Amino acid sequence: MTDATPDLAQIAERLAAVTKARASAPRIKEGVLTLVLDVGGLSEDQRAVMEAAVRAEMRDVPAITQVRVAMTAEKKTLQIIAVGSGKGGVGKSTLSANLAIALHRLGHRVGLVDADIYGPSQPRLMGSEGEKPTAEGKQMIPIVSPSGVPMLSMGHLVDPGQAIAWRGPMAGNALGQLLDARWVDVDTLIVDLPPGTGDVQLSMMSKHKPAGAIIISTPQDLALMDATRAVSLFEQVDVPLIGLVENMAGYVCPHCGEVSDPFGQGGAEAAAAHMGMPFLGRIPLAIGIRTASDAGLPPAGGGASEAAPFLAIAGKLLEWLDARK
Ligand SMILES: Nc1ncnc2c1ncn2[C@@H]1O[C@H](COP(=O)(O)OP(=O)(O)OP(=O)(O)O)[C@@H](O)[C@H]1O
Ligand SMILES: [Mg+2]
Repeated sequence: MTDATPDLAQIAERLAAVTKARASAPRIKEGVLTLVLDVGGLSEDQRAVMEAAVRAEMRDVPAITQVRVAMTAEKKTLQIIAVGSGKGGVGKSTLSANLAIALHRLGHRVGLVDADIYGPSQPRLMGSEGEKPTAEGKQMIPIVSPSGVPMLSMGHLVDPGQAIAWRGPMAGNALGQLLDARWVDVDTLIVDLPPGTGDVQLSMMSKHKPAGAIIISTPQDLALMDATRAVSLFEQVDVPLIGLVENMAGYVCPHCGEVSDPFGQGGAEAAAAHMGMPFLGRIPLAIGIRTASDAGLPPAGGGASEAAPFLAIAGKLLEWLDARK
């Protein structure tokens, strides 16, 4: 690289690394680098830190004598919606996968991240098992699921069944890489949290602040107020609560289609009200949901009746996002 012909691609890659891909394509004219930073969602301090990082990164580039940084918050940045629960096995992954597909069907630019580093389930749920993401520079390129939703999971990087015994910092790094991937044409990222969200996910939420969180619970947990644990978790990291989803609500008989309520009904709405949170809807307990999930064909991508509960919840989420603007 000579002074006269700066390597723009390399500069762009270095800038993308220090700005987490928030930099526009750099322009260099007569030694002046002009750059637009998308700082939407960042605090004043974070903006200053990012600008300083850009200047520091460009200091040793001989072709650049001056750096001009403009900031814009107008461009839509990636908004993260976290899906969490007070305990394991209540349907976080099922909801995340189906919510992503429902939003996609509704024409939204949505992506899906499996934040369960140790026990990823999204590749199987989304029918993308065995696919490997490529990378461009240090950035991963999400794979696209058969339903058309761009996604990333640790399960795409390690072989199925392989125990992932990473310690905190490495796991945190891995999750960071999934979130910092090249999410082109994505403005909403659904993040499927693991059960009993620990330090890795907490620090993720401090760094990549979700716009909001959806809590999912089964009716019997609600009676025990397990969901309140999830609520306090998100409050700890200052993540707004979008609302509560009740899963495995009424049992749909596979033979006659009749709905019964083994765990009672109405508890979720009451619990949501008690916690001062909107109720986003209920997903029935249906064998079809489990078999479709196991087959990598989430019901939200299927016929009208299977998709309905997920489309309804997606609609509520969109209302919340609109109201937030
Ligand atoms: N509404 C439902 N009807 C029938 N089966 C369901 C329903 N929701 C989830 N399941 C099944 O329950 C099991 C657990 O669901 P899922 O993996 O989504 O829970 P999770 O909260 O993500 O679990 P973990 O805490 O282990 O990550 C899966 O086998 C899934 O197919
Ligand atoms: Mg899960």
